[in-house]
Amino acid sequence: MNLVDFFPKDLFREKTVFVTGGGSGINLGIAKNFAAVGARIAICGRTQERLDSAAAELRTLGAEVFAQAADVRDYAALEASIEAARGALGPIHVLVAGAAGNFPAAAEALSPNGFKAVVDIDLLGSFNAARAAFAQLKETRGSIVFISAGQAHIPYAFQAHVGAAKAGVEMLMKDLALEWGRHGIRVNSLVPGPIEGTEGVKRLVASDAIKAKLTRAIPLGRFGTIDDIGGVAVFLASPLASYVTGATIVADGGQNLPGSGVWASLALGGDAPSNG
Ligand code: NAP
Ligand code: COA
Repeated sequence: MNLVDFFPKDLFREKTVFVTGGGSGINLGIAKNFAAVGARIAICGRTQERLDSAAAELRTLGAEVFAQAADVRDYAALEASIEAARGALGPIHVLVAGAAGNFPAAAEALSPNGFKAVVDIDLLGSFNAARAAFAQLKETRGSIVFISAGQAHIPYAFQAHVGAAKAGVEMLMKDLALEWGRHGIRVNSLVPGPIEGTEGVKRLVASDAIKAKLTRAIPLGRFGTIDDIGGVAVFLASPLASYVTGATIVADGGQNLPGSGVWASLALGGDAPSNG
């Protein structure tokens, strides 16, 4: 049973959810969870082929879908996609800003353009999406869910670019919650932990041996699933969270609790207590 099975099947009926980076991974999983509760889904990304295949999957869940390529760094293209989504599906009730880029790189070896590429996709792209969707969200008194990361909150080696970008997303989230609350727009962020079967984990977790070590340092003793995140995104955008704004919801099995991994490696010789 998925988390979203606990919600009424028509919770988002006749509501449109726009997901940036919705063609794959966690973002597509979030889109599927919204589709499962009746939403119309719009997705963008850079690759039309990937979007078309994601759209086909979403349609099998019964969703009306609009999929149009746009690079979130290109405001004009993104704005056009967001406007076209309105034409196809009606005004946006929920924006999920999930498009992002990541690769591991030591800061001293990272080129300024490599740093910029990630900041532009994650931070500028999140602003662009929120800015372009604002008028529609004001009309629907809708909400925004920014997809953040643990790197925004604690430093990770070889992730200076990602940490800077996602920390910016977190403050952007709070600033927009402050400014746009008067329009009835709620703005929150969701921090996934390491999620099985995703591009992010593929890039950052280099081997099964490393994965096993990392798993031992997660208090809940496992990597997350895409549906672990999809359910929380639906909750955040739903009436159950109607008084929640400016909040960061962490869904990471406790991975980033201060000291969890550090304690395990220093005090327990690399092995956290087993979770079964
Ligand atoms: P993913 O499948 O690679 O998702 C990223 C998506 O963003 C892709 O569909 C990609 O499609 C799109 N994208 C990238 N650059 C773009 C651009 N400039 N304009 C428009 N779309 C763009 O990776 P994922 O691991 O599922 O990550 C999804 C989100 O979760 C990200 O925000 C990530 O930071 C966050 N997160 C992931 C994990 C994890 O464990 N995986 C943990 C914490 C946070 P195209 O390449 O076709 O454009
Ligand atoms: N290590 C160090 N630098 C890297 C790198 C790596 N693994 N990958 C790219 N870069 C650098 C490039 O060298 C370039 O800098 P330069 O011009 O100084 O040489 C800069 O980053 C931009 O690279 P480019 O390939 O032109 O960027 P892009 O805009 O086409 O792609 C990325 C953006 C680099 C973030 C790419 O990894 C991507 O498309 N990621 C999307 C998917 C993803 O990352 N998913 C994981 C979850 S978020």
